Amino acid sequence: MACNDIVKKRAHKMKTRILLGCLLIFMILPVKLFAECPQARKTPTAPQSFLSLQNPLPLNDKNLKSAEKLFQEKAKPIACKFCHGITGNGEGDPDFESTPSARDFTCAATMKKLPDGQLFWIIRNGSKNTSMFAFSDLSDNQIWQLVHYIRALGK
Ligand code: HEC
Repeated sequence: MACNDIVKKRAHKMKTRILLGCLLIFMILPVKLFAECPQARKTPTAPQSFLSLQNPLPLNDKNLKSAEKLFQEKAKPIACKFCHGITGNGEGDPDFESTPSARDFTCAATMKKLPDGQLFWIIRNGSKNTSMFAFSDLSDNQIWQLVHYIRALGK
């Protein structure tokens, strides 16, 4: 085989590889770029007595700041950001990725349908068979502060 042919063959192989690589990227990218909104949601519904509750705390800096600390670092056993992401968009630390994925609080189409009491109830009790566990150490006040904070992330 002439030297020329070998070079041509290699070049062809290379082209095929690049093409396949590009195809793969374009198949994966849309999923990441266009995160699902509204999000598919099978979360259990809170009892009626909770659904009718409204956040009793005023929406002010003090409450938002306390909630921010809990969300970003203090909530035990692990802070909310590890699953919900620093901006609350549902893209947390890859180590905590799960199915179903964490709620995207920045997706207004999902969030506007969820009453305050629903958010409260899930934070207190967790969502069965998902990685969203019950935050039983948090006081009522802390949970209501978080509800304000989560809603503010979407604005
Ligand atoms: C280990 C991962 C993880 C952590 C930590 C976590 N969450 Fe979640 N969270 C999830 C997942 C997964 C879902 C989706 C559950 C589902 O689909 O039912 C979720 C859902 C929610 C919902 C949605 C409720 C609804 O009715 O749709 C709220 C509110 C919420 N989390 C608040 C919080 C708050 C506040 C914290 C921190 C105090 C927190 N989460 C920490 C994984 C986590």
